[in-house]
Amino acid sequence: MLLITNGTVIDPKSRLHARKDILVSDGRIVRIAGRIFDAGSPAASAAAGLTVIDAEGCIVAPGLIDTHSHFRDPGFPEKEDITTGSAAAAKGGYTTVVMMANTKPPIDSVEVLTDVCERGRREPIHVLSAANVSTRMQGEARTDFVSLSAAGAVVFTDDGRPLTDEYLLLQALKLAKKLDKPVSLHEEDPRYVTEPGINAGGRAAAALGLTGADRKAESFLVERDVRLAIEAKAKLCIQHISSKEGVELVRQARKVSPLIHAEATPQHFTLTEDAVIQKGTLAKVNPPLRLKEDRMAIIEGLRDGTIDIIATDHAPHTKAEKAQEFTKAPSGMIGLETALSLGIRELVQPGYLTMDQLLACLTCNPADFYRLDAGDLHEGGLADIVIFDLEKTWTVTEHFASRSSNSPFIGETLPGVVRYTIADGRIAYQA
Ligand code: DOR
Repeated sequence: MLLITNGTVIDPKSRLHARKDILVSDGRIVRIAGRIFDAGSPAASAAAGLTVIDAEGCIVAPGLIDTHSHFRDPGFPEKEDITTGSAAAAKGGYTTVVMMANTKPPIDSVEVLTDVCERGRREPIHVLSAANVSTRMQGEARTDFVSLSAAGAVVFTDDGRPLTDEYLLLQALKLAKKLDKPVSLHEEDPRYVTEPGINAGGRAAAALGLTGADRKAESFLVERDVRLAIEAKAKLCIQHISSKEGVELVRQARKVSPLIHAEATPQHFTLTEDAVIQKGTLAKVNPPLRLKEDRMAIIEGLRDGTIDIIATDHAPHTKAEKAQEFTKAPSGMIGLETALSLGIRELVQPGYLTMDQLLACLTCNPADFYRLDAGDLHEGGLADIVIFDLEKTWTVTEHFASRSSNSPFIGETLPGVVRYTIADGRIAYQA
């Protein structure tokens, strides 16, 4: 048995925000109450093998959920694998992750999906997987949604590669609707992208002498895909939204269909294209970091509920790859270990979101959309819990639990230190 005592429990789903104790047994929460045991009381001593975590000064919340992580497994173990990715997630406070499917081979078959899911089950946190929309991620033929869904795919996506074939996508959305699965989409029309990972027409592109990725690349596809999702009555997630136009399209679409959602990444709500000038390839991501007005539109989207999922797009790459010149280096940055702290610094501390709202975007909102048995704290529920100290700060160094260290935040001191990550009632990470 595990007793978490003296902490401030925040459970956004049940709107609980109070000083409570939580008692865990056999992987489940058995009690949430004001005071469960008094130290040294006969009841406490009677609880055989009781481990006590003193969470004084800390927030106790549902374990975080990341629905957009690249663990590069199979294919690129030098960047990350399921074990190092899970360790990075646990260190960042995450108890559930959904792996993206742009691996090598991609997760387009039951065989590959079953392998990654089986290996995921051996990790201390819950590791789930997406499956591809199209075979080999070529955007031409649809994968076998029925079998992949039965084998455990949480979502269908070709993330990393936009889907340009409207007909294929509409059929995919209709089938996903039948199977009650979401589709999540990388929205960058290649026709408007000369060089990926840098905002077209801005200061950074000018400094590097590049044309870049036009904001139209995003708005063009978002406009098309919300239309298709509305027609198919399907659940759609617009991934890593980057432009004010994209946010506005989602805002309008959600008035017609509440099944349409969008995710914001910490990098897009924290940084602008100026980071590319300062940090070079470490700030190269797809879709690119854009202007202050885009960043503020994403924050406003989070504030008014247009965007209700924060996802990391944790995208590990090696030092050698990122050391190449800008146009050759791959896009992406790691994010699992810094996401909570950036949410606190960029969204909560300036007063855009309350801590409860931030946690909702990291827990019950993704759980509801992806239908995950996670994301809240209730008696009888899984004991997936994060305990973090809001008052403490930490300095980001190159020493990540991730196998990669491609983060533009190295050297920064951030608020919020994860002290414990508990998954299925077991300690998966302890500071
Ligand atoms: O920057 C990115 N990197 N964006 C994506 O959508 C894919 C990801 C990757 O796989 O590296």
